[in-house]
Amino acid sequence: MKNNELPDNYVTALRIPWLTSIYDPIVRWTTRESRVKGELIDKAKLGADMTVLDLASGTGTLAIIIKRKFPDVDVVGVDGDPRILQIAKAKSESANVKIEFDQGLATQLPYADSSYDRVFSTLFFHHLGHSDKARAFAEIFRVLKPGGQLHVADWGKPTNFLMRLLFYPIQWLDGFANTKDNVEGQLPNIIQHSGFNDVQIDKQFSTVFGTLTLYRALKDE
Ligand SMILES: C[S@@+](CC[C@H](N)C(=O)[O-])C[C@H]1O[C@@H](n2cnc3c(N)ncnc32)[C@H](O)[C@@H]1O
Repeated sequence: MKNNELPDNYVTALRIPWLTSIYDPIVRWTTRESRVKGELIDKAKLGADMTVLDLASGTGTLAIIIKRKFPDVDVVGVDGDPRILQIAKAKSESANVKIEFDQGLATQLPYADSSYDRVFSTLFFHHLGHSDKARAFAEIFRVLKPGGQLHVADWGKPTNFLMRLLFYPIQWLDGFANTKDNVEGQLPNIIQHSGFNDVQIDKQFSTVFGTLTLYRALKDE
C-alpha cells in the first residue's frame, strides 16, 4: 500500500472523507465514549511495562486515554488512513503523551509475532467484510504474546427492537455486508475461530446508534 492509497473496499472513519474532521465530537456525543472506552481499559488490567496496540486507532482517543492513565505502558496505534493518523499524531502531541502511530492494514499488521500484551480495538470491525474480519482477528492473534488479551468495543447483537432500529443508520453508512456479522452476534464465533480461547461478552451499552458490546478473548500461554 502506498502512503495515501487505500484499498477499494476501505471504509474511512465516517465513510465520507471530509467528515473525518468532525469525527471526535460525533463519537463523543453518540457512543457514550468516555464510559465505554474507560470500562474497556479497566477490564484489560494493564500493568507497568506492558506493550499495547490500539488497532484502527482513528484520531487516537483510546490510545491517549491509555497512555495518560498508564504512563509506563508502551502504546502503539495503527490505522490504514494517513489523514486520520495525522489528526492522532497532532492530538497526542497536544496531550503531551508519547505514542507511536503507524500506518498499516488490520489484515496485514506491520508487527512481528508475539509483540503485544494487549490489543484493543474500538468501533472498527463493522468496517470489514466477513473474510477481512477473520483475517484481522488472525493477525491480532499472531501479534499477541502467549497469555495476551484482546479487548474490543464494537456494535453487537441488538438487545431489543429499538436498538435494532437505531442501528440502521450505521448499516447504511458503513455497509450492510460489513455490519451483518455484528448485528447477528457473530463476532465471538469469528474471534474463537481465529484461535482465541475464553471469548466473552463483558458488557452491552445502549446508545443512540444501537447496542455497543465489549468483547474479550485470551491467547493461551
Ligand atoms: C469508526 S473509526 C474508529 C476509530 C477509533 N478506534 C475510535 O474508537 O474512535 C474506524 C477506523 O478504522 C480505520 N480502518 C478501516 N479499515 C481499516 C483497515 N482495513 N485497517 C486498518 N484501519 C482501518 C479507519 O481509518 C478508521 O480510523
